[in-house]
Amino acid sequence: MTHPLPIVRTVADLRARLAPWRAAGEQIALVPTMGALHAGHLALVTAAKATPARTVATIFVNPKQFGANEDLDRYPRDEAGDAAALAHVGCDLLFAPAPAEVYPAGFATNVRVAGLSDVLDGAARPGHFDGVATVVTKLLTMARAHAAWFGEKDWQQLCVIRRLAADLNLETRIIGHPIVRAADGLALSSRNAYLSASERAAATALPAALNTAAAALAAGAAAPETLAAAHAALTAAGFDPIDYITLADAATLGDPVPGQPARLLAAAWLGKTRLIDNVAVALR
Ligand code: PAF
Repeated sequence: MTHPLPIVRTVADLRARLAPWRAAGEQIALVPTMGALHAGHLALVTAAKATPARTVATIFVNPKQFGANEDLDRYPRDEAGDAAALAHVGCDLLFAPAPAEVYPAGFATNVRVAGLSDVLDGAARPGHFDGVATVVTKLLTMARAHAAWFGEKDWQQLCVIRRLAADLNLETRIIGHPIVRAADGLALSSRNAYLSASERAAATALPAALNTAAAALAAGAAAPETLAAAHAALTAAGFDPIDYITLADAATLGDPVPGQPARLLAAAWLGKTRLIDNVAVALR
C-alpha cells in the first residue's frame, strides 16, 4: 500500500522536515513543478530517488512567469491527484506553498538572467524567464537542496537556471533529465491537455520535423534550407504561428559553435495551444 504523501505549505515546515534528513547526512533532491503532473515529472522523481536522495517535489503555479494574456487562470490544477501520483513513485515530501508564502507583502526582488532570457521563448513571452528565475532561486534557497531536477523539454529554462545557479554561487547541483515522450513522439506537457483530438494528432508533426531536421543537419545539410523545410512541414500540419524554429549553441543559445553541443528548438501554436520541443544535434 502507498502511504499518503506528507504535504508542507510553509518554508518553516519545509525546513523542519528536511533538517533530520540533512543531519543524518542524506542527500536532498528538489523537483520543482507547477503541478498537473505527468509521466515526465514522475520520471524526474524516480531518477532523483535513485541517486539516492530524499526527494521533495514542489507544486506552485507561479504567477510571475505568466504574461497578462497567458493561461494562469486556466492552468490545470489537481493537487490531490498529483500527491497520489508522487506518493506512488516514492516521493518523500510535497511542498505546496500558497502565493503569499512565496511572495509575501512587500516582495520586491526580481532575478533576471540577461541575454539567455531575452531570446526565443523570452522574446515571445517578455518577463517569463524573470518569473522562472525568481521563483526557482527562491525554491532552491528555501529548500537548500543538494540537487534540483528539471526536464529538458524546457531547454531554455534549463539554460537560464544553470546560469543563475552558477552566477549566484548556489550550492544546489542543477540536473537536466531527458524529455519523456508519448509513443508517437510528442513531448509530454501539462498543456497537451488543451489539445483537441485533431490537434493532438497533428501535434506529432513537431517532434517529427525536429528529428528530420536534426538528422539532415547531422548528415551535413545546410542549416537555412533545413530549417525552412522544417518550418514548411509544421505549417503543412496546421501550426500557426510558428514562433521560432532555430539551431543554437546548447548552452548559450547563441549561434552554434563547431565542435560544441548544438540544439534545435521550436515553439509553435496549434489552435490556442503553444507547444515547445527541442532535440540535440550532432553538427559535423
Ligand atoms: O517548468 C516548470 O514547471 C516551471 O517553470 C518551474 C521550473 C517549476 C518554475 O515555476
